[in-house]
Amino acid sequence: MVVYIKIKEEAMQNIKAFIFDLDGVLVDTAKYHYLAWKRLAEELNIEFSIQDNERLKGVSRMQSLDIILEIGNITLNRDTKIQLAQKKNIWYVEYISNLTPKDILPGVIGFLESTKANGIKVALGSASKNSMLILDKLNLTNYFDAIIDGTKVSKAKPNPEVFLKGAKALKVLPSQCIVFEDAEAGVEAAINGGMYCIGIGSKDILKKAHLVLSGFYDITFDKLKL
Ligand code: G6P
Ligand code: MG
Repeated sequence: MVVYIKIKEEAMQNIKAFIFDLDGVLVDTAKYHYLAWKRLAEELNIEFSIQDNERLKGVSRMQSLDIILEIGNITLNRDTKIQLAQKKNIWYVEYISNLTPKDILPGVIGFLESTKANGIKVALGSASKNSMLILDKLNLTNYFDAIIDGTKVSKAKPNPEVFLKGAKALKVLPSQCIVFEDAEAGVEAAINGGMYCIGIGSKDILKKAHLVLSGFYDITFDKLKL
């Protein structure tokens, strides 16, 4: 049985590009970010839950640290914060050191292949400064016509900068893009940028997305019913 994913017709007219977030959309690195932040929070004696972690998804490294410190009601100077963020990143990079193409989330490759075969341009829109390292480990780099990562933006999601830069690099209008996002902040960023947003994850969390899928599983471009 072919299951079509219904997208509003007016939204799908004229779609020329897909912009993918990385962590939690193409690969399950979100769990390693969580483990590394949890480890840091424990060192700081801050209670940090998996619910709290939702607030960190899609936001930059320093902003994530600020959220954790706010939860723990702790104020630190800038140098200490830079050191802590570096420490978290060292742990995170250690956790992801064994990533291989097997860690790409189910259905992602098929979806990317069918997207490209239909002439849709593809960009990455991620806050992560580790994006290039991860894409390389997963052998995904060549799928992307443009890569906008944490080294190329100054405003964190929900600011739409990362996606607007992606659209610009692909030479398409925001209204011609669909963004795939697993984070609340990322969904808001896409919407703030005037883009159609497909949430990847739970409908309870990604309430603002135009449509939510639990993953790509057997989703292909054709099944998006353009
Ligand atoms: C992504 C993740 C966030 C992460 C951010 C920065 O958006 O969802 O959890 O904090 O990137 O990642 P980085 O690898 O640069 O620390
Ligand atoms: Mg994400």
